[in-house]
Amino acid sequence: MPVLPATEEAIGQAAQALAKGDIVAFPTETVYGLGANALDASAVARVFAAKERPRFNPLIVHVPDLAAAERYAVFDDTARKLASAFWPGPLSLVLPLRPGGGIADLVTAGLDTIALRAPNHPVAQALLAAAKLPIAAPSANRSGRISPTRASHVAAELGETPAMILDGGPCARGIESTVVSVAGDAPVLLRLGAIPREDIEDVLGARLPQAKEDAAIASPGQLERHYAPNTPLRLAATEVRAGEALLAFGPTPPKGARHSVNLSPAGDLEEAAAKLFAALRELDAGGASAIAVMPIPNHGLGEAINDRLQRAAKAR
Ligand code: TXA
Ligand code: MG
Repeated sequence: MPVLPATEEAIGQAAQALAKGDIVAFPTETVYGLGANALDASAVARVFAAKERPRFNPLIVHVPDLAAAERYAVFDDTARKLASAFWPGPLSLVLPLRPGGGIADLVTAGLDTIALRAPNHPVAQALLAAAKLPIAAPSANRSGRISPTRASHVAAELGETPAMILDGGPCARGIESTVVSVAGDAPVLLRLGAIPREDIEDVLGARLPQAKEDAAIASPGQLERHYAPNTPLRLAATEVRAGEALLAFGPTPPKGARHSVNLSPAGDLEEAAAKLFAALRELDAGGASAIAVMPIPNHGLGEAINDRLQRAAKAR
């Protein structure tokens, strides 16, 4: 995990690393991000593994500008107004996901919305230009720790994980972006951050009510309405019953499923995380009476996988 001064050459190497699925830590004006190609589910799974997140929270996707953002999300007039006023800058907009944009399900945690922002930092912008990819990046800290505002913080916290840490000096803002949802009927503040609420209200010409922090994500009710398959899930299944589909894990799945997807025949939890949401969708569409889910080991990314499966099982 070399810490490299963010020269043009290092940025070029970082872009290549992203393109081949590696993760790269890079500076933004708010905090350092732990970046992965947002189109590559395996790379995104490695970000979750590095952060040791017990849950798959959706990640912010970084893009150079509004034009790039419109490839991945649907903007209405309000969303465009906010993007024009604050981008590039520390405002993340939660928007309806544009179907067919290619964003990995794991980035949005299977939601039909996506958080996007155009960072205002020359290194982040140069990296986006060189990579020509949308970059999914949470703050480059372990889950539950403080966000890093210097390359040395990232090195201390995440050590060997990123292929590279681009050092762009201390972050000017030092607190995370403000997150506003424009995916519903009216804008809602989801996370306080570097842009004051009043500044956003001035642009909107209206009050910006605040949801409970991460309400859309944290509140199980809302979460489940979005993520849950319609087909019931039967967890910790060791055999397949008549009419069931199978979500398998490991080398020896039980036989007899009308339709099965193996998250990882090799028993690799990162591979399983990368495939999870797409697998649920696929099995859900197959018309089975239920989806039998094999036990998933509850360590590493297995904890987040099991959290998601339990929510999906309870949702109905
Ligand atoms: O300043 C920042 O925003 C930094 C830099 C690296 O850009 N990133 C950051 O990411 O703080 P992270 O993953 O630590 O926080 C992302 C926030 C979380 O609160 C998450 O719940 C919210 O954005 N979020 C992401 N996608 C969402 C969605 N589809 N709906 C609602 N909230 C979403
Ligand atoms: Mg964070």
